[in-house]
Amino acid sequence: MAAVLLWPWTIFLLFIAGLCYSKCPDICKCDVLKTRKIVTCNHGGMMQIPITEMDRDIQVLIVTASRDIPNNLTIGRIFLNFFSLEEIHITHSNVPAIGDSSFWPGNNLRILNLSHNNITQLHDTDFNGLKNLQVLDLSNNLISAFPSAPFHFLSNLKTLSLARNSLRRLVPRFFYMLGNLERLDLSGNPLRNVDPENLKDLRPIKSLSLAKCQIERLHSLIYQQLPNLVELDLRDNSFNYFAPEEFRHLKKLRKLYLDGNNLNVIVDMAFSGQIFDYLGLSRNNIVSFDVCAFCNSSIRALNVSDNQFSTLMIDTLKPIIFTLQTLDIGFNKITMENIMEVLEPLHRLRGVSLSGMKLTTLPPSIFVSNRDLRYLDLSQNHFNSLSFKVLRPMSKLEVLDLSGNRFQGLTQEELDHLSLLLNLKRIVLHSNPWACNECHILPLFHWIAETTNKAKVCKNYHDCIVCDSPRILAGKELPALRSRDIPPCGGPFSQFRILTAGSRLGIIVATAVFIIILLVGVIYLVLYRRHRAVYYTHEEERCDDYVVYESALEADLIGGYNDEKHLGFVATIDTGDSATEEKNKSRNNIT
Ligand SMILES: *[C@@H]1O[C@H](CO)[C@@H](O)[C@H](O)[C@H]1NC(C)=O
Ligand SMILES: *[C@@H]1O[C@H](CO)[C@@H](O)[C@H](O)[C@H]1NC(C)=O
Ligand SMILES: *[C@@H]1O[C@H](CO)[C@@H](O)[C@H](O)[C@H]1NC(C)=O
Ligand SMILES: *[C@@H]1O[C@H](CO)[C@@H](O)[C@H](O)[C@H]1NC(C)=O
Ligand SMILES: *[C@@H]1O[C@H](CO)[C@@H](O)[C@H](O)[C@H]1NC(C)=O
Repeated sequence: MAAVLLWPWTIFLLFIAGLCYSKCPDICKCDVLKTRKIVTCNHGGMMQIPITEMDRDIQVLIVTASRDIPNNLTIGRIFLNFFSLEEIHITHSNVPAIGDSSFWPGNNLRILNLSHNNITQLHDTDFNGLKNLQVLDLSNNLISAFPSAPFHFLSNLKTLSLARNSLRRLVPRFFYMLGNLERLDLSGNPLRNVDPENLKDLRPIKSLSLAKCQIERLHSLIYQQLPNLVELDLRDNSFNYFAPEEFRHLKKLRKLYLDGNNLNVIVDMAFSGQIFDYLGLSRNNIVSFDVCAFCNSSIRALNVSDNQFSTLMIDTLKPIIFTLQTLDIGFNKITMENIMEVLEPLHRLRGVSLSGMKLTTLPPSIFVSNRDLRYLDLSQNHFNSLSFKVLRPMSKLEVLDLSGNRFQGLTQEELDHLSLLLNLKRIVLHSNPWACNECHILPLFHWIAETTNKAKVCKNYHDCIVCDSPRILAGKELPALRSRDIPPCGGPFSQFRILTAGSRLGIIVATAVFIIILLVGVIYLVLYRRHRAVYYTHEEERCDDYVVYESALEADLIGGYNDEKHLGFVATIDTGDSATEEKNKSRNNIT
């Protein structure tokens, strides 16, 4: 009775509450972060955006889906009453097209992210109204066709990504009216050729990526039209040649990425007049530099890793000796003598990578003149121990990368040397075959028990020390173990081995034990022969027993009596098998 009377009141109260509090669609999550109202719908399986169930004053809308439960969305003009929207992210939602004035009015929209959809075409009214948009992300769609000037409303756009679409060519005036664009990403499109005419509206841009665009050459007019470029990414294309002074029009260029092309040689004066913070030439087929390749250039970081160098001529590097601070020569087949020759004059070096060079040892004097070194990458080599004394000259060393080597453990002496490097902030040790047993890992285990040391080694799970053996600990993170979890060195057999290998006392003990076993065996044999003499006298009665005894003895000598009543040959074969099995088992324990 009372419940019936209360009904209208409940409905009324709910109505009031609806006015005061935010609405939020069931399948979305609504938060307030730093006074911004954010709606996130990421459950997937949506056929439309439940816009009518959202507050009109939301600032951020995020719609996305997992791969298993995709959204199939269309947009349309659904934001007409949403004047406060600053960011819209509709990603992974199979959106097939943007649509005429879909984000109207959009005066406050700063970021529009439509990446990972199925958009195939752009139209010149798609972005109507978005005059304050700063970031437009259309990456990972299927865009291949468009009219000229699709972005002409976006006069304040600073960042545009069209990465990983299907653009085969750019049309004239494609970038018309993008007068404030600073960053353009066209990477991952099968462009092959870029017509200078189509880039002439991009005069202000500072960063351009044309990576993975199947380009073989760029017309020199392109460089002339982009005088403000600071960063140019031409990675993973098909360039096989750059002319001397190719980049001379790009006076402000500081970062140039030419990695992953087909370059064989770097010609004289290739970078004359250029001042680079970073020059990437890795992953080419460069066999040699012309002697004057770096003449009249200034380079702070040079990456020539993963090429075909057999020697690096120090004369080539002379022009940049005083500016070079970072050098990556990894994954080349350069001799140790050559490495030392190259490093010797580079007194300003702060970072060096000798990764992937199959190194097993370092000569004591290798780094004597690189006293400023802060970053040393020795990853992907064949080190299983390291005389850390070579690191002594580098009192400023901050990062040491030893990942991907063959370390099974570190000795106390090695760790003591590491502790002497007072500025060391980070030691990368992952991807080594760490043997988490007492004889290999104990010093390291105790060393990382100290919090400061642990912080240097483990930034997150993946770059920590993960045990490779024994099998029960494989995949376990070393700092998570307790000391009683760490087994002795792989079973009793190998402990014996360690004992003998480890100390002279061990050898004496082992020899003594061996002699005792031998003596016992001999005594037993002598006694047994006496028995047998007795048996011969009662040959007819004792025949069966004799066979049993003989096989028992044989089994004893080989390594274990076989209980089954197989006699003679069969018994011998059986016990023989079990003996080899035993041997295999203990071998497995060692490895
Ligand atoms: C979305 O479209 C795909 C392919 O057309 C289909 O397999 C899937 O079931 C659709 N998802 C929904 C939620 O309708
Ligand atoms: C757009 O969304 C994708 C996928 O969620 C994300 O990876 C990307 O960083 C976003 N882009 C911008 C500019 O926020
Ligand atoms: C969107 O494109 C992907 C990959 O190209 C395709 O598998 C999917 O079926 C497309 N979805 C729709 C709704 O067309
Ligand atoms: C070196 O570069 C400057 C530009 O920085 C240029 O003016 C000069 O001519 C170049 N010198 C030579 C020898 O090419
Ligand atoms: C040099 O380039 C390689 C491959 O492109 C990259 O993995 C490496 O990190 C770069 N080295 C430096 C010091 O940036």
